[in-house]
Amino acid sequence: MSEKAFPLEPIEKASIDELRALQLKRLQSTLHHAYANSPVYRAKFDAAGVHPDECKSLSDLAKFPFTTKADLRDSYPFGMFAVPREKCSRIHASSGTTGKPTVVGYTNRDIDTWATVVARSIRAGGAKPGDMVHISYGYGLFTGGLGAHYGAEKLGLTVVPFGGGQTERQVQLIQDFQSNIIMVTPSYMLAIADEYERQGIDPKTSSLRIGIFGAEPWTNDMRVAIEKRMAIDAVDIYGLSEVMGPGVASECIETKDGPTIWEDHFYPEIINPETGEPVADGEMGELVFTSLTKEALPIIRYRTRDLTRLLPGTARTMRRMEKITGRSDDMMIIRGVNVFPSQIEELILKRPELAPHYQCVLSREGPMDNLKVVVETSAGTGKDSIEARAAAKLLQHEIKVYIGSSVEIELRAEGGVERSQGKAKRVVDLRGK
Ligand code: DLL
Repeated sequence: MSEKAFPLEPIEKASIDELRALQLKRLQSTLHHAYANSPVYRAKFDAAGVHPDECKSLSDLAKFPFTTKADLRDSYPFGMFAVPREKCSRIHASSGTTGKPTVVGYTNRDIDTWATVVARSIRAGGAKPGDMVHISYGYGLFTGGLGAHYGAEKLGLTVVPFGGGQTERQVQLIQDFQSNIIMVTPSYMLAIADEYERQGIDPKTSSLRIGIFGAEPWTNDMRVAIEKRMAIDAVDIYGLSEVMGPGVASECIETKDGPTIWEDHFYPEIINPETGEPVADGEMGELVFTSLTKEALPIIRYRTRDLTRLLPGTARTMRRMEKITGRSDDMMIIRGVNVFPSQIEELILKRPELAPHYQCVLSREGPMDNLKVVVETSAGTGKDSIEARAAAKLLQHEIKVYIGSSVEIELRAEGGVERSQGKAKRVVDLRGK
């Protein structure tokens, strides 16, 4: 096995000017492609009174209308595609919470672009030639499994396409095959770590060197907790099906300072979610993406609902996004105070008597919304012990002091909070039930 690192692609080291010139050329071509070949985009641009010819600089993108999940739903299943369905080699879909799924399509070239950005992400995460990658993201209509798979293969690594579930066997195969990299949601990583311990194996002794975690929000404190428990490097991979899937942005192992956006394929903007106006780099707002090279489903100014800010490049020329700790859909408003599950996660991780398996349960009493944090005690700490009760009291106090909300805490014994095998469900809404 060679220890030599993989070389970077030239664009990863290009100058800002070179990158911006490439982006403008690709943006113009994407706008023309969408207008000429997708009746939905043509109607949207016409209604907004803009034509692709008006895009003379990257800032002209702000003249074009946003795309939302509702646009994709309204044109279900293939109405927004800019190529005939027969030219698509793959379809993926995300289930969503209600109604019809959001359907996305890929041409052969799109699949290759996707594999390229995921390969780039895995390399940025510290992969070395000869590594074996265990994939526990779900395979199927979800983009996680197949997206990770094609990227790892393209990089030339050995892939173990496990998918989600069967936690006991996940541990067995990682141990037997000696995988070096795991790609999984951070919440399912915790369940796998628990299973290691249940089998009497110290997870620190596993062959795993790197974890590439994403598909759900997770905090920097969770990173530290997982890194310590597994003795690995944990990096953050971001993406969404409407824009491509995993690999829209990913963290570089040398800096671990938020995902680098693969800006030669996905152009980011941050907007004020209320007014829709773009805000400057460094300011918080809603992340919006425009694809620069996609054929089957060009996506113009897609509103992700993810809240973050853009930061200058560090390990690469391309800009970074701050690690996403909240999405507007997960924001809870408790007596006028905005609360994100990630804020609660940070405080739970400070208490060694508690385990980071938790859910936020919302209920309503009269006109008031109540939040109950259901959290497990750590292995070896009895749920009714004095230590556990003191930790719960402290957590309640800190949530009041740091976040500003009065919440109830319910302690559960180990295994008492539903384990995710994919994306964790952090908010359970019982209001109106
Ligand atoms: O979750 C794609 C993916 C798969 C990304 C595997 C990374 C790894 P969707 O199911 O369409 O696609 O969900 C996209 O998940 O808008 C975010 O809210 C959230 N999300 C994805 N990655 C991260 C991350 C996949 N690293 C939605 N941090 C996005 C925080 C994330 N949230």
